[in-house]
Amino acid sequence: MKELRLGYSIYTLDGIELLPAGRTLPSEVWRGLPVSRAASEQDGVPIFGYGTIREDLLDCIGEKPYDVIFSLDQARAEVLRSMAQVRIPLSLLAYLDYFKENDSYTYLHSLKVFALSTLLADIIAVTIQEMRLESTAGPLHDLGKFCVPLSVLNKALPLTRVERAILEHHTVAGYVLLGYYMGDHHGVIPTVAKDHHERRDGSGYPRGIRLADRMVEVIAAADIFDALLSPRPYKPTPFDNRTALEEITDMASHGKLSWDVVKALIACDRRSKPDYRYLTISTERRGTPPQDNVYGIIADE
Ligand SMILES: [Fe+2]
Ligand SMILES: [Fe+2]
Repeated sequence: MKELRLGYSIYTLDGIELLPAGRTLPSEVWRGLPVSRAASEQDGVPIFGYGTIREDLLDCIGEKPYDVIFSLDQARAEVLRSMAQVRIPLSLLAYLDYFKENDSYTYLHSLKVFALSTLLADIIAVTIQEMRLESTAGPLHDLGKFCVPLSVLNKALPLTRVERAILEHHTVAGYVLLGYYMGDHHGVIPTVAKDHHERRDGSGYPRGIRLADRMVEVIAAADIFDALLSPRPYKPTPFDNRTALEEITDMASHGKLSWDVVKALIACDRRSKPDYRYLTISTERRGTPPQDNVYGIIADE
């Protein structure tokens, strides 16, 4: 497995440099990473009791297409109950405040991925324990974007190769930061931050490993879906719902995501809420991706 060399330093909200640029992280046992004893002892507070998170999340899932995804009263109540049980250390919630103030897209995206991944986990998770962890990982998956300058996150033009590397740094930065505050880098939550852009065929980043963890894939699928549907400076016209699902279906066809995770997402998106295990999916592409999307185009190549 590949080693990871940090291209950029990792620092906390308080300005503490946890790791300098240039440090190499071995892939398997990442020993010696910094841990905040004080923070790891925090129990955490219920995420729904913090700031306006609950209200903001309810607004998000009341809007298209989440209104249809959460249209089944029983499933919606179940998911809200699961999310209400999620407790997060205050020091981590402060990062959501940072996004709320400085990058509202990342803030609202984190809440939508929280809701959608909890719903998907409710459908396909094997154990309650798995579902709980999944739910907690959702709102924190992009925490490492704190270490990416806002000028890169919000750039309307294609990124340069260097800027692309800085953006991709959010995965490792999130892993190091979450492990630091949670007192352990081996848990599901830091792992989700590190691996949510990896793909089953090894085509993702930061390590290009073959993603084999279905629970990480649940976050990945929710993440891709919400990212496609959201307007961004580099993608003023978002994907429509149908074209977004075709993109994600295409990823399953090419072995980047598991069919069952993609089917669960498509089943949620239908008003009739079919059982995802018996869903047949057309791979024909009829939608039109937005023409003004520069995501993935590298300026200096
Ligand atoms: Fe991400
Ligand atoms: Fe994300």
